[in-house]
Amino acid sequence: MAQVEIKSLTKIYDGGVCAVKSASFEVADKEFVVLVGPSGCGKSTLLRMIAGLESISNGDLLIDGKKVNELPAKDRDIAMVFQNYALYPHLTVYDNMAFSLKIRNYPSNEIKTRVEEAAKILGLTEYLLRKPKALSGGQRQRVALGRAIVRRPKVFLFDEPLSNLDAKMRVQTRVELIKLHRQLQATMIYVTHDQVEAMTMADKIVVVKNGEIQQVAPPLELYKKPTNKFVAGFIGSPAMNFINCKLSKENNKLNLKTNSFSLELKENKTFSNLDSSLQEIVLGIRPEDITIANGIDNKNAFLATVEIIEQMGNEVFVQLLMDSNEITARLPADANLKIGEKSKFSFNLDKCHFFDSMSEKTLL
Ligand SMILES: Nc1ncnc2c1ncn2[C@@H]1O[C@H](COP(=O)(O)OP(=O)(O)O)[C@@H](O)[C@H]1O
Ligand SMILES: [Mg+2]
Repeated sequence: MAQVEIKSLTKIYDGGVCAVKSASFEVADKEFVVLVGPSGCGKSTLLRMIAGLESISNGDLLIDGKKVNELPAKDRDIAMVFQNYALYPHLTVYDNMAFSLKIRNYPSNEIKTRVEEAAKILGLTEYLLRKPKALSGGQRQRVALGRAIVRRPKVFLFDEPLSNLDAKMRVQTRVELIKLHRQLQATMIYVTHDQVEAMTMADKIVVVKNGEIQQVAPPLELYKKPTNKFVAGFIGSPAMNFINCKLSKENNKLNLKTNSFSLELKENKTFSNLDSSLQEIVLGIRPEDITIANGIDNKNAFLATVEIIEQMGNEVFVQLLMDSNEITARLPADANLKIGEKSKFSFNLDKCHFFDSMSEKTLL
């Protein structure tokens, strides 16, 4: 049982850099929580405060309900895995994994049991006598995981552990980590800048920007109901399209206008928060929510020039130019489009997002 509460945690480094600003979220027992955000947004700082490697400037950190702000790292029962494996080069795989138990004076038969068990889980049994330099990057990262597992910590922390692996190994190790989490039934906090890792691995995602938490939600909720333009643009690939529009109300109908199109929105529940006095708003539409409208009598359809077609095999990513707006659409592989020609497209109105152009917060 291990539950972590982060309450208004703030980190101000010597020199005045405020790397984390009053961050709050909870990690439930056995939960896999991913902190995601661009480089430099304060993810490592937050993780290092949880680990006890960095002091807390303000706020509270609770593990199983107990405040641990001042508890030394070694007494927190937390294991951390880093991007650069940090293995001892002169020690064998076995001794690397046994190291933390040895310095804690565990009996050697207990150490043997734990190391062999971890090696079996990680498929490292046949490499136990090798030195790190005789291993691949993926195997080294597994040894680093093994070192954490043998300690049977309350909480596992991971700081971009897959960043040094090539694309194929990264995907493979990602799947192994998901299985490992299920097998160990442990509480895990995982840091990455990669939204795909966040979406595929997390029970719950914490999106961070400039040291501030933007949204905390399960992957699908984050995708469907982003709270602001940053989250909307950060989660999902290809990214959501944003178009600046003017909002007006004519004959009790809401109209969205740009130079090249006019969308008529039915006044239903979804749009009830759209205040026509706002005038300037940002429309967000995901590439998969754009369809070809040729031949369909659709008054919300618009013309756009096909600029680039990226063939993916099972689908195409199409760059469209609509007025001065570059838009990406995700269409069937056999979409009959020609580069340089204009075609008609339409947005799935039920899937449109709307953001305040000043605050960038969602209007839905
Ligand atoms: N020891 C430090 N002293 C001063 N500033 C730091 C220190 N470590 C990190 N920072 C700054 O804090 C911010 C967040 O860094 P970091 O937590 O490493 O971000 P991330 O892990 O998301 O890339 C950055 O602006 C970084 O330059
Ligand atoms: Mg970092």
